[in-house]
Amino acid sequence: MRIDILSNVPELIRSPFEASIIKRAQDAKCIEIRLHNIRDYSSNKYKQVDDYPYGGGAGMVLMIEPIAKCIEALKSERDYDAIVYMTPDGQQLNQKIANRCSLYKNMIILCGHYKGVDQRVRDLFVTDEISVGDYVLSGGELAAAVFCDAIIRLIPGVLGNETSALTDSFQDNLLAPPIYTRPADYKGSKVPDVLMSGNTPKVEEWREKQAEERTKKLRPDLL
Ligand code: ADE
Repeated sequence: MRIDILSNVPELIRSPFEASIIKRAQDAKCIEIRLHNIRDYSSNKYKQVDDYPYGGGAGMVLMIEPIAKCIEALKSERDYDAIVYMTPDGQQLNQKIANRCSLYKNMIILCGHYKGVDQRVRDLFVTDEISVGDYVLSGGELAAAVFCDAIIRLIPGVLGNETSALTDSFQDNLLAPPIYTRPADYKGSKVPDVLMSGNTPKVEEWREKQAEERTKKLRPDLL
């Protein structure tokens, strides 16, 4: 999968892609991530990409021209399955959306900043609008990092153990069961005996029951 991320402050999104699972996924060529600074597509001599809103009001708006030029340049090179705009008024991200997007071959993600982008960008180019929750961030970059992380870990070959993304919380509309590692006894707080029993069917049964109980208690809306 190739993901092209468009932003006027790409520095904000660089570091999540430079370590751990996502870095390894890039090194292993499971995923290619390209950051694009929309300032590079500005025809203005000051590299301006934002302007005051028509009709007045507070805040600046990202202009259509640099964004359109960047998207058109990318689209001339390959077909995109989706052009996603990160925005608090988009569809709220969930595991189902992440699963669907993880099957894409090429995707553009546009990060808004300031008051957002000119509506015509949304009308003319954007195919999907995604929010990471009902709160407002300073820009779409951190939201894009969250979205990319949720998708990339689902791509086959990215996680060492192929089954581990399938056993994540939310994959069956259930939260994940509790997990433990050494020591078996921490100052009197012990790991449940069943996990030390070596009896795999019993462990599975215990985990399923715990997942159900946890979901019932913490997120009954999922059931
Ligand atoms: N940009 C600003 N806030 C956002 C949010 N909650 N989700 C996605 N993009 C955003």
